[in-house]
Amino acid sequence: MNPRIKKAVFPVAGLGTRFLPATKTVPKEMLPIIDRPLIQYAVDEAIEAGCDTLVFVTNRYKHAVADYFDKAYELEQKLEKSGKLEQLELVRNVLPSHVRAVFVTQAEALGLGHAVLCAKPIIGNEPFAVILPDDLIWNRGNGALKQMADAAQATGASMIAVQDVPREQTGSYGIVATEAFAGRSGRINAIVEKPKPEVAPSNLAVVGRYVLDGRIFDLLENTTPGAGGEIQLTDAIAMLLAEKPVHAYRFQGTRFDCGTHIGLIEATIRYALDHEKLSDAARDMMQDALREMGVHELD
Ligand code: G1P
Repeated sequence: MNPRIKKAVFPVAGLGTRFLPATKTVPKEMLPIIDRPLIQYAVDEAIEAGCDTLVFVTNRYKHAVADYFDKAYELEQKLEKSGKLEQLELVRNVLPSHVRAVFVTQAEALGLGHAVLCAKPIIGNEPFAVILPDDLIWNRGNGALKQMADAAQATGASMIAVQDVPREQTGSYGIVATEAFAGRSGRINAIVEKPKPEVAPSNLAVVGRYVLDGRIFDLLENTTPGAGGEIQLTDAIAMLLAEKPVHAYRFQGTRFDCGTHIGLIEATIRYALDHEKLSDAARDMMQDALREMGVHELD
């Protein structure tokens, strides 16, 4: 039996400049979809996949993420005293008691690969997950990471989440070339970071979920700056696949790119329409808004 991932890395040291001025004080991972910050969705997905150790790679300005996962004694006491037990549960369940959060500082913003390397002392030499909280993945069934963790455990291969993107967008993603897929996964034989459409090996793009062999850390230590002058995780994965099987995994679910304005809006709309208490009101409100603003006349 192959080992099961128990640890997940959340690179959350980015500056989030696309969301300025909000991100002047609120890290982008703390932006909410309805009532939960993006980081909570990512954490829940990791826990569902079986992880009990969560490693947050932050920068020295990002106290909000650490504060969020810390115990809120005074708030809990107040809620308990005033009998607001439902809210108390929400606050307590931010992190279940069997899960531990570890914070590591990335002193310099040297790239995603470097951020992941900062987690090496906590992960050691075992398979682990990387989740980019900007990529929010919605699914009615198992979360994307659980699907990938199951596949990784069954095959012993590393798994990289992928989805098709329009060819003109290849320059925003890691792009893979694979062997034929069997079911949801296919072995990767090439991966390149943010290629221009004319040189991209395919239009199959990496999405922010990875199950990686611990060997990646040694490779990251020898990865020189690549696209954008940054130490790229993609470049270390390109070295990994020369040594060990790395599969692209077409997950079941819908991915929202919450690193962009429109992606965050789309996610909010979709989660509202699917929400057990808000869906009717959200649908009515959207229809009214479209009617009032005359958008239906465009049909
Ligand atoms: C990162 C990765 C890229 C991947 C993307 C998914 O890029 O480097 O390979 O396709 O996440 O969201 P970023 O969006 O951080 O520039």
